[in-house]
Amino acid sequence: MDKKIVLITGGTGLIGTQLSKLLFDKGYQVRILSRSKNKEQNNNYHYYAWNVPKKEIDIAALKNVHYVIHLAGVGIAENRWTATRKKQIVGSRVDSALLLLEKLQQINHRPLKFIAASGIGFYGAVTTNTIFTEKDPAHDDFLGNTCKTWEQSSLKFEKAGIPTSILRTGIVLSKKGGALEKLCQTFKFKFAAALGNGQQYMPWIHINDLCQLYLHAIENTAFIGIYNAVTSEHVTNYEFTKALVRKHNRTLQLPNVPSFILKLIVGSMSEMVLNGSRVSADKLERGGFKFQYDTLEKALEELIV
Ligand SMILES: NC(=O)c1ccc[n+]([C@@H]2O[C@H](COP(=O)([O-])OP(=O)(O)OC[C@H]3O[C@@H](n4cnc5c(N)ncnc54)[C@H](OP(=O)(O)O)[C@@H]3O)[C@@H](O)[C@H]2O)c1
Repeated sequence: MDKKIVLITGGTGLIGTQLSKLLFDKGYQVRILSRSKNKEQNNNYHYYAWNVPKKEIDIAALKNVHYVIHLAGVGIAENRWTATRKKQIVGSRVDSALLLLEKLQQINHRPLKFIAASGIGFYGAVTTNTIFTEKDPAHDDFLGNTCKTWEQSSLKFEKAGIPTSILRTGIVLSKKGGALEKLCQTFKFKFAAALGNGQQYMPWIHINDLCQLYLHAIENTAFIGIYNAVTSEHVTNYEFTKALVRKHNRTLQLPNVPSFILKLIVGSMSEMVLNGSRVSADKLERGGFKFQYDTLEKALEELIV
């Protein structure tokens, strides 16, 4: 039987790299759509180029593709949120999705499914007592509005008759890069401290579970619509920091990092780490997904050796 073909936009990133390997190992043909063909390439995958601002895609990337996974986007937590950066954060996700759809329609090809990333930033940078579910509306702040527009562009695939799943993703914990690496940086200097008042929640997911979830979305036709991609365990920033400290055999001696210091260092982006509410994993679990790493302790056991 011919291999099913999966095209991953942003397949060179943190999630895409691990997801490509999982899909290849599971017998899929993996295509990667990237801005640069000069990046280090893996012989197991097929690479194609695109240029979103110029509205260009190597059309061969889309031919006969069965599944499209849309991960591409400028890093949200990498640079200060200047007006230009904010435009890039939105445009790189939304314009790219619209371009993909336009080109698929031009060649009259309908993949079996479109699966897109989104973020729990949808619920806003707010600390509340609410446990947010997929039925809650987007919060009216930069992250909430970004995720809403991003999801609206993904839902255009659904309207065009392509079954669509959206994974509203929490903080992805991985050995290489991402949030955990940043959180662990201070341990090199032998200190660690919670951020702000430490009471903000940090909905998270282990990268292995997230990649399994993308596979689940591919393999289950009934898995369509919007899902929170987070584990069911709720931890605050203080609890998270304490768990990291235990794992590094240190003690938490320092006072919390004051909010104003973070605001001075990273500007309005500090909202993202100083605030956070609980996010429900119920719909995901009802959809038949089983987490391998359902507690932070299990996740850190695997991630920090
Ligand atoms: N990691 C997390 O904790 C997390 C949490 C929630 C949601 N997400 C979302 O999940 C998606 C994947 O996350 P990730 O952590 O794997 O991100 P990542 O490591 O930053 O990778 C994203 C990829 O997007 C591509 N890209 C960057 N700027 C672009 C632009 N201007 N136009 C088109 N493509 C661009 C890059 O690929 P090329 O250089 O090859 O083009 C890059 O490898 C992102 O949309 C992210 O917002 C991630």
